[in-house]
Amino acid sequence: MSYVIDTSVQLPIRPRPISIIGAGAIVQDAHLPAYQKAGWPIEQIYDLDPAKARQVAQRFAIPKVAESLDQFIGQASPDAVFDVAVPAAALPMILPLLPECSVVLIQKPFGETLHEARQLLSICAQRQFTASVNMQMKFIPAVIAAKNLIAQGAIGELHDLEIRMNIDHPWQLWTFLFGLPRMEMLYHSIHYMDLLKYFFGMPKSVYAKTSQHPNQMQLASTRSVIIFDYDRPIRAFINTNHGHAFGTRHQESFIKWEGTQGAIKTTLGLNINFPQGVADTFEYVVLDEGQAPEWQSVQLRGSWYPDAFIGSMADLLCFADGSSQTHSTSVAEAVKTMQLVEAAYRSSDGGGISIDSLTP
Ligand SMILES: NC(=O)c1ccc[n+]([C@@H]2O[C@H](COP(=O)([O-])OP(=O)(O)OC[C@H]3O[C@@H](n4cnc5c(N)ncnc54)[C@H](O)[C@@H]3O)[C@@H](O)[C@H]2O)c1
Repeated sequence: MSYVIDTSVQLPIRPRPISIIGAGAIVQDAHLPAYQKAGWPIEQIYDLDPAKARQVAQRFAIPKVAESLDQFIGQASPDAVFDVAVPAAALPMILPLLPECSVVLIQKPFGETLHEARQLLSICAQRQFTASVNMQMKFIPAVIAAKNLIAQGAIGELHDLEIRMNIDHPWQLWTFLFGLPRMEMLYHSIHYMDLLKYFFGMPKSVYAKTSQHPNQMQLASTRSVIIFDYDRPIRAFINTNHGHAFGTRHQESFIKWEGTQGAIKTTLGLNINFPQGVADTFEYVVLDEGQAPEWQSVQLRGSWYPDAFIGSMADLLCFADGSSQTHSTSVAEAVKTMQLVEAAYRSSDGGGISIDSLTP
């Protein structure tokens, strides 16, 4: 039996001019390379740090730099898509100022708590935005390939999904994360929680423990174990350690899906030696009666950065232009993901079953 390994995404018929707020690392490393690769027009950029905005505009040949948010809004095209890529704390100041009925792509996380996510959702509703949150992991080419293989029945019924990151993350690149009360699960593992939801839907409950690392004590927590519990036989979990500072030999960055008839494993090279990264891999195995399991290795085109960022923008634009009825990055979906994050923190804060309580 042969299977189609498809990694394509639907693209908008008519791309909108992109107006960007935030000229930080993610815009430079992923948003702008993605839009350039897709051939989409970028009309302007604005950042609180005007020198940075000018530098980025020069590097990516962006025609206009705004010196203030007022100027930015005033000079945006009527059909612009606003790409807001700033820390979550800045969203409540920016979103209410964008024109009514705008099309808006917002960087994750959608607020720093579930309460804030709901407030942001209501701003989006009041302003009548067509809005997305950039939960783009589902558009990584390897994840699209896995989803399609599973939909074709290649691995039978999916019942096991493991996401493992044992890496040395350069947190010093994101100064805004230092001092926040919630960090790893809110700013990093949120992607993985969104992905478990994408494959299995909302769980019945979440168990989690997030911990500090003795060498990263300025951050609220940098390693987590998160388990999603379903009312059917599913094992779905995330295991992250961002403090594996012992070279790349035993660093790991993978997603593994197991089904009743086969399995898929992809390594996401981006997280190893971030942000330079190493090459990705994609393999799958399908059981064949009487045959020894044989893993197939597939060379996929594209990678997390920048390709997944084409996918999230395309998801929003296709929904906004009416060419697609699905909107998997919608703000409503993002609130559900924030529910998972909130559950994970409450579980972590609540702790496990006390051993003392079982001591006679
Ligand atoms: N989806 C992903 O995979 C992914 C990856 C990395 C970061 N992010 C998210 O993107 C956001 C930005 O991250 P980053 O890595 O670019 O951080 P960064 O610190 O490199 O850049 C943030 C930029 O936002 C600007 N800024 C802050 N408040 C602003 C405001 N009110 N108006 C205009 N500009 C403002 C800062 O001056 C800075 O240039 C964060 O929320 C982060 O969680 C998402």
